[in-house]
Amino acid sequence: MAKNITTDPDLEQKIENLIAQMTLEEKIGQMSQVRHFDDISPEEIKTKFIGSVIHTQGPLPGNNAAEWQSKFSELQKQALSTRLGIPLIFGVDAVHGQNTYEGATIFPHNIGLGAAANPELVEKAAAITAIESKATGFNWVFSPCVAIPMNEKWGRVYEAFSENTELTAELTKASVIGHQGKFGNSGVLATAKHFIGDGATDFGVEGGSTTLSREEVLERLLPPYQAAIESGIASIMASFNTLDGIPMHAHKALISDLLKGELKFDGIVVSDWKAYSRFGQNDIINAGIDMVMAVDGDLDLFQEGVRNGVLDGSIPENRINDAVRRILRQKFRFGLFDHPFPDKTLIGKIGIPEHRAVARQAVRESLVLLKNENHILPLKRTSRIVVVGPMADNSGLQSGGWTVNWQGTTENYKDATTILEGIKKFTLHEVRYDREGTAEVENVDVAVIVVGENPYAEFFGDIGGEMNLFQLTLPEEQQKFITAYAKRGIKTVVILISGRPLVMTQQIEQSDAFVAAWLPGSEGDGIAEVLFGQFDFKGKLPHSWPKSVEDYKGKYGPNFWDNSIEPLYPFGFGLNYHNKL
Ligand code: GLC
Repeated sequence: MAKNITTDPDLEQKIENLIAQMTLEEKIGQMSQVRHFDDISPEEIKTKFIGSVIHTQGPLPGNNAAEWQSKFSELQKQALSTRLGIPLIFGVDAVHGQNTYEGATIFPHNIGLGAAANPELVEKAAAITAIESKATGFNWVFSPCVAIPMNEKWGRVYEAFSENTELTAELTKASVIGHQGKFGNSGVLATAKHFIGDGATDFGVEGGSTTLSREEVLERLLPPYQAAIESGIASIMASFNTLDGIPMHAHKALISDLLKGELKFDGIVVSDWKAYSRFGQNDIINAGIDMVMAVDGDLDLFQEGVRNGVLDGSIPENRINDAVRRILRQKFRFGLFDHPFPDKTLIGKIGIPEHRAVARQAVRESLVLLKNENHILPLKRTSRIVVVGPMADNSGLQSGGWTVNWQGTTENYKDATTILEGIKKFTLHEVRYDREGTAEVENVDVAVIVVGENPYAEFFGDIGGEMNLFQLTLPEEQQKFITAYAKRGIKTVVILISGRPLVMTQQIEQSDAFVAAWLPGSEGDGIAEVLFGQFDFKGKLPHSWPKSVEDYKGKYGPNFWDNSIEPLYPFGFGLNYHNKL
């Protein structure tokens, strides 16, 4: 029995009394999650008894937080005007801050928090994300991703903390408590995702086939979910991958028997995108899915399909009651019946300096120093510096996917600061900026060269997958930045902006200092605070670092628990200013 899940007899009785009054249509409505724009009209919130609304890529709910709140309040009024007046719950992918709202505090993605390995910091970041999510009208976030990425070819490595199970479990606990408040009802519902095996597919294919043995799944992938359940996690999202050849959404043994049975998870198992039509329709309901992202044309198929399933007996009514019970339990637990409308007083908290200070601390602590030849770092304020590359002065490029847009942005966004802006605050001389890496700058002591990956999300980031937009090595045109400055004898400090370790052996050899900065988010100026020695490096590699593309011949890349591939740097590696080199 998970030790923190307290069963409250009065609450359970309230839930049963409500279920007893509900019609089948009202129950199926509670299990329906739709987008606030093209899946339904506001009136259909009422006529179809909708239980949840999600905001994802598409028309914004408004031009500012007050308009977002009022849009959601209009939909909430529709729900409250139904016969039983069960409130809606509003969900969003706030995975590194409330990243769908421009102007919110954007934290380093979880891979950076994994490098920082600071549970207290993760809890603070989650609590701030909860505040800024509530300020924009949400009470449910689809975060944290607790995958154990086993292959850097996967396009979602950065959404997870680490390849190390124990570290992931520890940070998962902190994230859940931060988002939800101590065991629920003061924050937002958090979601551990994607259950199970999302980051362990063969060759890192998003939604691919996971062929780990059951023992390996239980030993290496399950502990973060156990940690989440012990911390009172409100929801768990099913995964797109298959396991044992079964789509995870339809995996009854793992969802119902293991998660709900053995582990006593009492929250909501929510489906992923459009899963009803993609993974077997009523099979996913019978497997244990409680709430369905009935989006992109799936709503009527879902509602009619489940109704017919109950009427023809292929779906037991007690399966529907289990789903509704779990949904109502979280709505009661998080106070939605008492406070169904957003708190306007939180709007002023979005992006405040105190929040950004925590994000800047996370940026600093996420940085991993892989090389520092002849102590080129820390930089001196009197140094004559040239900063190189488009990623040095672009907050969109430094933030990765799930920032402003689903696939991120290649533009600067509101209230964010860049790496170049941070460096300018420290130097006494004018900083030269060689955006294209082609300038013939003279009289410089050191070049700070910022390279890496453009933003991506989900399968767009799979290397070798259907999109094949990215690679394991640095793009040619960026390799030239480093070669051009190195061969002119100018000292080089390379800052890598990436959602994963990349094959950079040659570039590391060419540079005097090399920093893995992951995806720092809105507070890019925090990087300079470490480069100039105001703070020391603290970050340690959350993943083994690959030596060559050859490391990816098999299903997985170099991993801390698989010594068959010698990494360039092991999990946990990281230098600081006191390392004797
Ligand atoms: C996506 C992702 C999932 C996200 C959901 C809603 O496909 O797999 O992580 O929470 O859909 O956007």
